Amino acid sequence: MGGHILAIDQGTTSSRAIVFDDSQKVVGVGQREFAQHFPRSGWVEHNPEDIWESVIWSARVALEQAGIGAADLAGIGITNQRETVVVWERDSGRSIHNAIVWQDRRTASHCEDLKKQGLEEIFTAKTGLLLDPYFSGTKLAWILDNVEGARARAARGELCFGTVDTFLIWRLTGGRAFRTDATNASRTLMYNIATDGWDDELLDILKVPKAVLPEVLDCAADFGVTVREHLGAAVPILGVAGDQQAATIGQACFEPGMMKSTYGTGCFALLNTGADMVRSKNRLLTTIAYRLNGETIYALEGSIFIAGAAVQWLRDGLKLIGAAPEASELAAKADPMQEVYLVPAFTGLGAPHWDAEARAAIYGMTRNTGPAEFARAALEAVCYQTRDLLDAMHGDWKNGGSETVLRVDGGMVASDWTMQRLADILHAPVDRPTILETTALGAAWLAGHRAGVWPDKAGFAKSWARDRRFEPKMDEKARAAKIAGWRDAVRRTLSAG
Ligand code: G3P
Repeated sequence: MGGHILAIDQGTTSSRAIVFDDSQKVVGVGQREFAQHFPRSGWVEHNPEDIWESVIWSARVALEQAGIGAADLAGIGITNQRETVVVWERDSGRSIHNAIVWQDRRTASHCEDLKKQGLEEIFTAKTGLLLDPYFSGTKLAWILDNVEGARARAARGELCFGTVDTFLIWRLTGGRAFRTDATNASRTLMYNIATDGWDDELLDILKVPKAVLPEVLDCAADFGVTVREHLGAAVPILGVAGDQQAATIGQACFEPGMMKSTYGTGCFALLNTGADMVRSKNRLLTTIAYRLNGETIYALEGSIFIAGAAVQWLRDGLKLIGAAPEASELAAKADPMQEVYLVPAFTGLGAPHWDAEARAAIYGMTRNTGPAEFARAALEAVCYQTRDLLDAMHGDWKNGGSETVLRVDGGMVASDWTMQRLADILHAPVDRPTILETTALGAAWLAGHRAGVWPDKAGFAKSWARDRRFEPKMDEKARAAKIAGWRDAVRRTLSAG
């Protein structure tokens, strides 16, 4: 058996599969986008069959490109969009409803009801999360309430609930394995991150029968073996983590105080807090960074819903640019005298505000404002929001030492202009790694290490290499003025403001 690892990265808008060789080099990539369904305002769904087909298609393409067969794989690692909910029949494997995606806001009123009953504190104490529709619990409850007979069938053990990793494991193993990992479980609002188990009290509140829940394993574990028909050979699934946790691993943020930020559709910053389960006073999330050999490592997480999506808006909504990379070229030409701010609350605001009702706004326009100022405002908004997250993190956790370096990844970090502006706004260095496929790399490391063909944590951390460090250059006065302008714009945008 060779030392190749297949990483499946099942994301919000596309599925990717990457084959890494035993020296952790990318040797094959397959990627396919799939349809997004918006049945009502604020609702977002995926067809689970589209997810499944795009994954299998991408995996086959990646293997072909790598010039190997599935029999040459030492293992598979899976990483996935988190919180998204799939419910399927245990017998047939058919889903009973479209997947409800993490961005979906349909359970906002359920969350409000629970809050009014004074239950947020219990959920936060046990799960590290907040009562926001973002998380899986109320989405699962919605399916059980709205698909005829679902709750009774769930109680009889006829239905399975899973985040996307669980659904893929089930399908890949021909229905033999019903499992998830601790990071994905930690995003469901039903998993107690202190005791590491499904929580009966929370299940009661959400009226979720325990019979629908998968078994929870470490991130590197024996999740099951694929049936031959899907990839052409039986391959063990040895690593699983939610995509932001996988990126934390791929960035080798193994030491307390290390931090990464991934710029995809949204932006998710995770700060490793080690064995400390830090409780945020600033409405950040406490979550499981990874669990290896039964040992849980925690993180503080800041989640921003719109990052790259703001660039998509410039391209598809405003048609100011033809392709994403043009955004920073345009931004670089913006008039430095104009102070234009975009608060991209297109789907509300995430951390640290958690304002589901806020909507996007742009401030400070004059008759001279044009496409360049819009582009700069969109990119700077990502930088300001990252700063807000990091400020909140520093407020919550003082053990990180005085120097903070942020490791970045995701599509937007290809832009030097944006990364320089990020360092300027943060007033801290920003490190861009040579391998930008950090999410897939993290999942691959979990599987490769478990298979015994990749190095241990320390060895892997040594192989992390920097492409470039962006040092802050902006003078203090200019930075302070810009940040004050941003804060004022946010204040004016908040729904209660
Ligand atoms: O929490 C949502 C996150 O996991 C989605 O990530 O990369 O699929 O947009 P992505």
